[in-house]
Amino acid sequence: MTEAEIRTAFAREGVACRQFGAEFSARLRGGLANLLDRSSRVGARVLDWPGDPYADALPVRLAAGLNALVQAGQLPELAAHFPPHAPGDDASFDAALSAALHDDRIDAWLDGAPQTNEVARSGVLMPGLLAIAAATGLPLALFELGASAGLNLRLDSYAYDLGGLVLAPPAAPIRLAPAWDGPPPPAADLRIVARRGVDLNPLDVTDAAHRERLLAYVWPEQVERVARLQAALEAAALDPPTLDRGDAAAWVEERVAPVEGRCTVVLHSIAFQYFPATTQARIAAHLEAQGARATATAPLAWLRYEFDSPEAAALPTLRLRLWPGEDRLLAHAHPHGATVQWL
Ligand SMILES: C[S@@+](CC[C@H](N)C(=O)[O-])C[C@H]1O[C@@H](n2cnc3c(N)ncnc32)[C@H](O)[C@@H]1O
Repeated sequence: MTEAEIRTAFAREGVACRQFGAEFSARLRGGLANLLDRSSRVGARVLDWPGDPYADALPVRLAAGLNALVQAGQLPELAAHFPPHAPGDDASFDAALSAALHDDRIDAWLDGAPQTNEVARSGVLMPGLLAIAAATGLPLALFELGASAGLNLRLDSYAYDLGGLVLAPPAAPIRLAPAWDGPPPPAADLRIVARRGVDLNPLDVTDAAHRERLLAYVWPEQVERVARLQAALEAAALDPPTLDRGDAAAWVEERVAPVEGRCTVVLHSIAFQYFPATTQARIAAHLEAQGARATATAPLAWLRYEFDSPEAAALPTLRLRLWPGEDRLLAHAHPHGATVQWL
């Protein structure tokens, strides 16, 4: 890629941020597109990036590094321009940003692929689990693929308003109330008797560095989202989810089979698209084979909250395959769980 193409990648990412209403993040990326130069190690490394800046999410890596250092109090000049402060005039913002690029602690942030765990997706997965509980009348055992830090495995500890269906467990660390369209989900008795997740790179909620890493990728002007993630991480650190490291296919093949007296639920959110095609095919084949063995008293469910349309503007869907049973489209939902259109 040429230097001009690298700058374009930053500018385009800024446009995407603006489309999502993230004005500060748009300005930061626009500033980086113009200000990057070879006077700093970080600037030179970015402009000479050997790979594809889009596929590598290079602007996200650099923005997260800056955000992490700001949040840790290590870039006070730039911090004065970061939310919750107003960014100020362009000249002083650009000067602070240019100076910050000389901080070599950012360099490490360019190494790793971004990783998130969006806890508001529980507001989409939860009604899916209620639908499973209503259909089967059984307790559920959860197997989450691409679980990241496992925050969505703890979804029954969160409070909800799901189209008027209110769930309020004691001491809930967060409350999720997605903008709802359609009837509420079934008010089923949800009992989760087992839960476990897998990720190629599971993040440890008890590790402060892992928590900081997750928080750094959230656009800093999205203060509610940052606060929600912080609260969910703090609660999870007191009761960490069980996660295994590895590829999802081998894990599913090893662990997922129908069990008498419970519904075995495989679930995932905005993860399947990142799995290699062979992993996707092996998971589907294993679930078909196990589904053929499932019965009404030992059912198997596959709950997917994923982008499944090639149309760029299409929302992710929530789909449920139940064995014995059929494949149902349950909802369309915003990728971060902000809206749910329940069908
Ligand atoms: C976009 S994140 C979504 C995380 C989480 N499901 C959520 O909704 O917040 C995708 C996750 O899939 C994981 N992943 C990618 N390929 C994988 C694979 N082959 N097997 C297991 N996990 C994988 C990544 O490490 C990452 O944590």
